[in-house]
Amino acid sequence: MNKYKIALMPGDGTGPEVVKEGLKVMEAAAAKFNFKLDYTDYDVGAIRYLKTGEVMPDSVLEEFKKQDAIYLGAIGHPDVKPGILELGILLKTRFALDQYINLRPVKLYPGVDCPLKGKGPEDIDFVVIRENTGGIYTGVGGVVQKGTPYEIATQVMVYGRPVVERCMKYAYEYTKKRNSKKKMLTLVHKCNVLTHCGDLWVRVHKEMGDKDYKDVKQDYNHVDAATMWFVKQPEWYDVIVTENLFGDIITDLAAIIQGGLGIAAGGNINPEGVSMFEPMGGSAPKYTGKNIINPLAAICAGGMMLDTLGEGKAAKAIDSAVTKVLASGKIKSLAAGKMGFSTTEVGDMVAREV
Ligand code: IPM
Ligand code: MN
Repeated sequence: MNKYKIALMPGDGTGPEVVKEGLKVMEAAAAKFNFKLDYTDYDVGAIRYLKTGEVMPDSVLEEFKKQDAIYLGAIGHPDVKPGILELGILLKTRFALDQYINLRPVKLYPGVDCPLKGKGPEDIDFVVIRENTGGIYTGVGGVVQKGTPYEIATQVMVYGRPVVERCMKYAYEYTKKRNSKKKMLTLVHKCNVLTHCGDLWVRVHKEMGDKDYKDVKQDYNHVDAATMWFVKQPEWYDVIVTENLFGDIITDLAAIIQGGLGIAAGGNINPEGVSMFEPMGGSAPKYTGKNIINPLAAICAGGMMLDTLGEGKAAKAIDSAVTKVLASGKIKSLAAGKMGFSTTEVGDMVAREV
């Protein structure tokens, strides 16, 4: 029997509540497909920080390196200044474990309300592959003459060819293997203005595609245009590859067209190492402890984690179960408190279908 070591970071707010339901569903899949998950709990997040002043001990990062995957709930607290936990926990883990891919499936499930007029599940089914450790997020830059009228601040978009190439390779491989008719990889950038960084991405996209992936169609959108096309013609897309900050922005737009943060899941992936999976919604402080938050995004993140671990059948079963539960129309809304069911009831429904 395959066994996997999973680090749990339930985190803050409603994080622990959705993680609990994700685990319930994964346990159902483990029983059915005969594998075992061993958990280690890590209490990182706002509570630990507010109590001890410690954000993320290096020892935790070292222990993460020995795990098979990390399952995250949510990080964030109204009493903690923005940036401390995001940089100190999320970004630190991404960088320390070199999780250089951010994988965001964008899928409108049947039965889910879409804010786009006339679009249904057959129209919204694509994947965004966001470069996850480079670009502006590297923090290259600084500030001089701070506080004076002449203050200057820079934060530079930095990309080396190897960093672009490894992301592009992952994206082409993903597109090649993806079960879709289009087999098309759209590069999203802003090469009309970012003539250095954008051009590097454009050349790598074309060179690699021409040489190694002749069966994959090459496509390109400027990022500003992509935000219009997401709304007007989402059915165009198959797989999108983009740099870090553009990816951050367009994946929030993508989340809302797939029904919102209640269903959006993502993976911070190191294809050769330890990856971390998370629901995209935040810690939702005002819903904490009420058993009304939607656990579906966390459940889907769990499915992605199992897929990455090599349990593809279990991942498919979870996806089918989520599809069935949503298609039944019983869940009235994906928003917290409006589902018509509690957090635990939704977890039970999906687990039962698995
Ligand atoms: C995301 C988040 C993070 C990011 C923040 C919280 C650091 O917005 O995962 O999309 O900007 O990458
Ligand atoms: Mn974001």
